[in-house]
Amino acid sequence: MRLAILLSGRGSNFAAIHDAIVRGELDAEIVCVISNRPDAPGIANARQWGLDAHVIDHRAFASRAAHEYEVLRVLEQARPDFIVLAGYMRLLSADFVAKFPQRILNIHPSLLPAFPGVDAQKQAVDYGVRVSGCTVHFVDESLDAGPIIVQRAVEVRPDDDAESLAARILEEEHVAYVEALVALGTRVWRVEGRRVLFEGPAAGGRRPAVESGR
Ligand code: GRF
Repeated sequence: MRLAILLSGRGSNFAAIHDAIVRGELDAEIVCVISNRPDAPGIANARQWGLDAHVIDHRAFASRAAHEYEVLRVLEQARPDFIVLAGYMRLLSADFVAKFPQRILNIHPSLLPAFPGVDAQKQAVDYGVRVSGCTVHFVDESLDAGPIIVQRAVEVRPDDDAESLAARILEEEHVAYVEALVALGTRVWRVEGRRVLFEGPAAGGRRPAVESGR
């Protein structure tokens, strides 16, 4: 399974995926890493780990389309099976998404459809929910709304603030992203409407904690 990673910052989800590959838990190859920010710690890690690392700074392009054109050029050379958004803070255009149906994945720090958009952990604390978590989903043309692949729940404690909740959710994100990729790479799956359906037992790796459609 060939993976392209798109990131903008810290890159801890990228690191978790890379670690899982190194440990032999995830049978995949990271064929390129693209950052829209030159100072992203994630892209420094990609270089250090000897991966094909690209900075494509959106500020150097006149339009979203021009920036995406350059991202597409790199992706066309790398030929990924899946494009993995790992803290990529740019909205992808509908044209871009349409080129990769069911091949772009994102992780969001809430149990979607609750709390889409920015500051999902703060939204959860402010709302007073008792349970939040994270969601790995396919990317479609709407924000944080594509078919759900894996979710993991995290208890919201009475003394949580956005930061403490985010830290516990992040630990689950790292597990969830690997679980989703293992499932997509080892099992027969299809998307029916909004539901991602997996068939049969896992051929390897751990089972996702929660799978939609089961
Ligand atoms: C994560 O919380 C993820 O859910 C959100 O952006 C953050 C990225 O963190 N989409 P990292 O860069 O992977 O550490």
